[in-house]
Amino acid sequence: MYNSKISGLGYYVPENVVTNDDLSKVMDTNDEWIQERTGIKERRHVVKGDGDTTTTMGVKAAQKAIEKSGLDKDEIDFIIFATLSPDYYFPGPGVLVQRDLGLKRTIGALDVRNQCSGFIYAISVADQFIKTGMYKNILVIGSELHSTGLDMTTRGRAVSVIFGDGAGAAVLSREEDTTKGILSTHLHSEGQHAEELSLIAPGMGKRWVTDIIADNDPNDESYYPYMNGQFVFKNAVVRFSEVIMEGLKANNLQVSDIDMLIPHQANLRISQFIQQKFQLSNDQIYNNIMRYGNTTAASVPIALTEAFEEGKIKEGDTVVLAAFGSGFTWGSAIIKW
Ligand code: COA
Repeated sequence: MYNSKISGLGYYVPENVVTNDDLSKVMDTNDEWIQERTGIKERRHVVKGDGDTTTTMGVKAAQKAIEKSGLDKDEIDFIIFATLSPDYYFPGPGVLVQRDLGLKRTIGALDVRNQCSGFIYAISVADQFIKTGMYKNILVIGSELHSTGLDMTTRGRAVSVIFGDGAGAAVLSREEDTTKGILSTHLHSEGQHAEELSLIAPGMGKRWVTDIIADNDPNDESYYPYMNGQFVFKNAVVRFSEVIMEGLKANNLQVSDIDMLIPHQANLRISQFIQQKFQLSNDQIYNNIMRYGNTTAASVPIALTEAFEEGKIKEGDTVVLAAFGSGFTWGSAIIKW
């Protein structure tokens, strides 16, 4: 058995910055409300015509991650792509990345549909493949294009102000020393709350596609994401805490052993709740939701990349990744860097 380590990281966000004041010009909201409830100051939105999609952003993040890993792109054995906003209904973006990045022509590509927990689920799957010796180097991507699918009117303000576009990527590689790299991952879901944070259409369960074409109604709210914000918040703080503790316990670690916690950037208030509960110093937790909003499957790899590039993660550090989101799904990863 082997371990897997993160051998390269990269991220990409669109250049276009959308501030809270910009949003207040198109819907009834304001900077004070958004910052007070979520901590978000600005987010990135793709610009129509610039050509950025979930796949192209994922490709740009992946290019950087592969470059940092020092590997040749032909050494990538497998692709895992996590997103809730794929370019196409099918096929998923994994195969598009394989083509657009010019990776080996017939390697496998897997798409993960676990929303905010997508990146944690994806690295967990990659870790299992590497542990068993099946693959040596796996490209894992989390990428989201939210802005084109949000209700940018006052009706959608409770959801639309939170989400932003962007992509993050990691290369996971074989690590012979089993005391290093990814020590464990823990994954959970609770499907009974599936609709509490969801986008119902254009799922095939909503209605016959012929009906959609016949009477496509722009006011049909099921075409926009729905979130029961307070219910999500209450569950998030409980599940984040549980799954971090579960990971630590499985490795005989204490909260005080955490050198860096990278929580999914759902809401700064959720991260602060966890920080306070675990009594972590500002150096033990990384947040960038202020600048990017919630980028769902991309948030953990973007934050991880930034924290690493800012020198906040060093060799030998215990790094904890944790996420909670739609499904509900949640998970954690404990990494010895
Ligand atoms: N700007 C101004 N006012 C807004 C607003 C906005 N963008 N969005 C909602 N409001 C209003 C509401 O209409 C409501 O007004 P009312 O009291 O007159 O009815 C009021 O603000 C309070 O709304 P509510 O939804 O109760 O706010 P909240 O305190 O629960 O905060 C969230 C909303 C979304 C910020 C909060 O619930 C949250 O962060 N939830 C978790 C979200 C999350 O993490 N999602 C991702 C999971 S991965």
